[in-house]
Amino acid sequence: MSTAIQFNNVSLNYGSEDGLVRVLKSVNFSVNSDEIVSIVGPSGSGKTSIIMLAAGLEMASEGSIKINSQEIVGLRENDLSDVRKKNIGIVFQSFYLIPNLTAVENVLLSLEANQKYNRDEEAKSLLGEFGLSHRINHLPSELSGGEQQRVAIARALINKPKIILADEPTGNLDSANSESMMDLLFEYTKKSKTSLVMVTHDDSVARRCDRIIEIKDGQIV
Ligand SMILES: Nc1ncnc2c1ncn2[C@@H]1O[C@H](COP(=O)(O)OP(=O)(O)OP(=O)(O)O)[C@@H](O)[C@H]1O
Ligand SMILES: [Mg+2]
Repeated sequence: MSTAIQFNNVSLNYGSEDGLVRVLKSVNFSVNSDEIVSIVGPSGSGKTSIIMLAAGLEMASEGSIKINSQEIVGLRENDLSDVRKKNIGIVFQSFYLIPNLTAVENVLLSLEANQKYNRDEEAKSLLGEFGLSHRINHLPSELSGGEQQRVAIARALINKPKIILADEPTGNLDSANSESMMDLLFEYTKKSKTSLVMVTHDDSVARRCDRIIEIKDGQIV
């Protein structure tokens, strides 16, 4: 077991017309390589910002963020993108599937062009594991919300990430779909010894995690 994510005194500020907005204030936490952690807290408290920072999609104003021991604060976009590809799979609340690509094409989207052909069978079998073998050639508009979210998860997993970041992955799903989604995510993370950091509003989802990080007003409480 090692440390997958380490935030040290991380602050995030935005400049606006009314002055500086301090979104995160000296946040400290770490997540182990085999741990499932949920992030909970009120709307606007900074949960999505933490996910964006850990994914290198937003740059910290102060502090240090290490992803598998590599410092990412201060990296240029190219290097950030390498760290992301090597380590991280992301699932967003709104699935961000590409509308004119089929389910299997969406799963293959994050791979380099030269890998897409070789990994086709793998993508199909991953969709099969998620109960979508009869839907691989469907467009997102032909899929239910729960099915679209399962495609989005398959896309996050196809690169075998060491860290999965999920921002309210069950936010748009009813409770039955939400439950089976969590089963898939938990099963995968346990099986592949991946760490999972998941923002959720759902207490029953948070309770299934190894640990809950609560955030309020940009600080961990
Ligand atoms: N680009 C930006 N410029 C200025 N302020 C921003 C920007 N992005 C986010 N914020 C502010 O940062 C704060 C935290 O936002 P964040 O999206 O992290 O909250 P959250 O905890 O994910 O909320 P929710 O539960 O509603 O998704 C909010 O007050 C938001 O208005
Ligand atoms: Mg959010």
